[in-house]
Amino acid sequence: MKKCVLVSGGAGFIGSHVTVELIEAGYDVVVADNMSNCDLTCFEGVKKITGRDDIPFVKLNFCDPVATDILFATRKIDAVIHFAGFKAVGESVAEPLKYYRNNLDSFMNVIDSARAHGCRNILFSSSATVYGDPDELPVTESTPRKEATSPYGNTKQMCEDILRDSVKSYPQLRGIALRYFNPIGAHPSALIGELPRGVPNNLVPFITQTAIGKRECLSVFGDDYPTPDGTCQRDFIDIVDLAQAHVFAVRRMLEDGMKKDYEIYNIGTGKPLSVMELIKGFEKANGLKLNYRIAARRAGDVPAIWADPTLANTELGWKACRSLEDTLASAWAWEKHLAGQ
Ligand code: WQD
Repeated sequence: MKKCVLVSGGAGFIGSHVTVELIEAGYDVVVADNMSNCDLTCFEGVKKITGRDDIPFVKLNFCDPVATDILFATRKIDAVIHFAGFKAVGESVAEPLKYYRNNLDSFMNVIDSARAHGCRNILFSSSATVYGDPDELPVTESTPRKEATSPYGNTKQMCEDILRDSVKSYPQLRGIALRYFNPIGAHPSALIGELPRGVPNNLVPFITQTAIGKRECLSVFGDDYPTPDGTCQRDFIDIVDLAQAHVFAVRRMLEDGMKKDYEIYNIGTGKPLSVMELIKGFEKANGLKLNYRIAARRAGDVPAIWADPTLANTELGWKACRSLEDTLASAWAWEKHLAGQ
């Protein structure tokens, strides 16, 4: 019998790409989302890409413990991947309680219900933000987590701890936290991608919206950092590569391959790229010129962070393989798809 994976927040950017990869790997998937930060565009795209019109979709707020419990009680769920959560760094500074309440409650409800209904396997979508401004580069999973630079980042640290402690105390559970670096790009079909509401916070959506004319000019936040070209360095990872890491992690859990009951993996390419290199890469990949200017630093940005992904490479057997050029072409194809071009 096929194993069934519940994807909370499955209608969003990362969740929709993960749903596609899970279905293509032969899993049944239940998508649950409260649609607070997305519409059905990506879920419809997932159905088109997979040719599956029968993917179960449940509109659900995981902060509601009763609704969460009913979901686990009425379906046989073998593993859950928890994406549902608020993710805007700036908003989390303005409204910390909203972030703590939503991101922590929803995850605790998921763990509670999984435990009550015999779902052993919990995968949490964590973030490189848990490292704060690291003292050593690249970061490995044992690089100390520094103080989070925002309530959003703090919820990621706290959810990791909640999972670690739950797994320790409830032996029927096991967990994996995947620490994502900077996911970018879109599915090569251009049927799913990132759908920022309002002005994008993240670099690549701002770039594509500038290129299509929705924004006049991209601001490069700071060119006086202690990095080779003065702009920040990040580990930009293709969204499909990142989504595939989840399939490897779910398989490891479902096939009893875990060496510890709680494992953590960096999901990145291992290669630093500067903001300016990314802009130049976008121009080259798509044969266009971008309107940009140098602006002041953005509060809270760390100068540089990139992953050592060795553990994911060796233990999960996963490796990022898509080229930057293909990734940046996919981001542009998605923006054009949204514009109906
Ligand atoms: C990347 C670089 C900016 C926009 C954030 C979260 C992280 C994760 C991913 C997800 C930085 C620069 C950006 C712009 C710019 N969260 N930049 N002009 O900050 O590394 O990570 O998103 O839910 O937890 O913190 O990503 O894409 O915002 O920025 O110059 O208009 O691009 O200063 O150096 P970041 P980002």
